Amino acid sequence: MLLKTAKESDFIAQDSAAFYDGIAPGYDAMTNFRKRFVQEKPFFNLLVQKYGIRTALDAGAGTGFHSLLLAQLGVQVASVDVSQEMLKRVKSHAREMHLEIKTFSADFKNVDKEVPGTFDAVISMGNSLAHVLSHEELRTVFRNFMLKLNTGGILFLQMLNYEKILAERKIIQSVKEAGDTIFVRYYEFHHGLLNFNILALERKNGVIEHALHTTLLRPVVKDEVLSALADAGFAKMKIAGSISMDEFQPMKSKDLVVLAQRE
Ligand SMILES: C[S@@+](CC[C@H](N)C(=O)[O-])C[C@H]1O[C@@H](n2cnc3c(N)ncnc32)[C@H](O)[C@@H]1O
Repeated sequence: MLLKTAKESDFIAQDSAAFYDGIAPGYDAMTNFRKRFVQEKPFFNLLVQKYGIRTALDAGAGTGFHSLLLAQLGVQVASVDVSQEMLKRVKSHAREMHLEIKTFSADFKNVDKEVPGTFDAVISMGNSLAHVLSHEELRTVFRNFMLKLNTGGILFLQMLNYEKILAERKIIQSVKEAGDTIFVRYYEFHHGLLNFNILALERKNGVIEHALHTTLLRPVVKDEVLSALADAGFAKMKIAGSISMDEFQPMKSKDLVVLAQRE
């Protein structure tokens, strides 16, 4: 079953763990899990080849799409996430695909303590960093990511381009139909923070059931990301507008992608 019936508590912003535990059952359908493999594999293949990546930490792994993709490319992967329900799905996908992935239940703030070892790459994809709700915490998170990297290792980040989102102030971000469910992702704009809502509408026995999940996001923009990375000790940084590393255009690009290297 994709949905829980809406309760009053569903309308109060949840922390990241509760929010993702709630949307985990429908996450793969909503994000087109299968199609993403076809779309994103070539870029990750290039990244793995170019930087000689043999080990990687997937921070904010979700249901494990990037972890699985990297494992398919021969990389030893550790997935970390704050949501137990998401990590369950990483494990079941890995079993089904005959891939080995280590999973760690931890907050970005604690990866330095909770995840052993260092890696050739740390990746944080799919806007996971927007869940970090202050500048100080963002610096701590980047510092932790730095501590998890081998010398010469890369940090690869994909966020939404909030410069564009904040300028346009579109409330409805996307409407997606998957099977019997329609997912509406929408924002409520506040000063400094956003309410991120996912409304799922499911037709069942002729009745439409709904569930609403809400969490807070901090819309971090390019200059802040770069300054927090610099504070964390990253020197070499490249910016792009997508994972294909095309030019970042503040009012056009959908994503903000950053590739930084530990010297
Ligand atoms: C939008 S999903 C992206 C998942 C995946 N990277 C993808 O691209 O499909 C964000 C993920 O980050 C996790 N997350 C959010 N805040 C976190 C935190 N502070 N520490 C660890 N994981 C976090 C959530 O539980 C969720 O699985």
